[in-house]
Amino acid sequence: MPSASNSRLDRNPIRISVLASGRGSNFQAIIDAIKTGKCAADIRVLITNKPDAQAIDRAKENGIPVEIVERKDFATREDMDKKIKELLDKYQTELVVLAGYMLLLKDKVLLDAYRNQIINIHPALLPSFPGVDAQEQAFDYGVKISGITIHFVDEHLDAGPILYQEAIDISDCKDAHEVSERILRIEHVAYPKIVDSFAKGRYIVDGKRARFVKS
Ligand code: GRF
Repeated sequence: MPSASNSRLDRNPIRISVLASGRGSNFQAIIDAIKTGKCAADIRVLITNKPDAQAIDRAKENGIPVEIVERKDFATREDMDKKIKELLDKYQTELVVLAGYMLLLKDKVLLDAYRNQIINIHPALLPSFPGVDAQEQAFDYGVKISGITIHFVDEHLDAGPILYQEAIDISDCKDAHEVSERILRIEHVAYPKIVDSFAKGRYIVDGKRARFVKS
């Protein structure tokens, strides 16, 4: 029997909140896909822990509210996450999209409240090369195939149920930078598609396995 599922309401578009710490090119890809009708999502807010994140400019250019939640303003990481949960609730979030958010979500209350409603994109084929610099890890290891993984976020680093993976040949890449560029290109197509899938159905999660069911 399925043990859990995301509680997507049967409505279009899906209300998403994006968490990003830096460049925000995946955030931009989602914005662009929404504009061209390829992604049925309504971006309610950008939440960032970095007041100088490029993602903020992208939000402002597109009229998306920005909330800055900095680590220095909280005694603990759990307190910081409690603030993030308050914001997710305030913006009536149905799906939380991590797009280069460089901190782990630590607060169990947040993780439980948004169980199977938080997704992340990782630039490697998990469970290979979790954590930071995955592209460099893959290049240094000498793997010939790498790729991307989109997964639900849970208490563990890059280990939640997998929604989507795509592999690419990196055997002719000259350096980790080239691997990153090649991976980013497929991220920008895949991430908006997976966000869009939440407007079309839901993912049933049974243990580690996630299965998409159209509504
Ligand atoms: C991407 O490579 C993504 O896989 C990883 O962080 C990077 C974010 O890039 N989680 P950007 O900020 O979306 O440009």
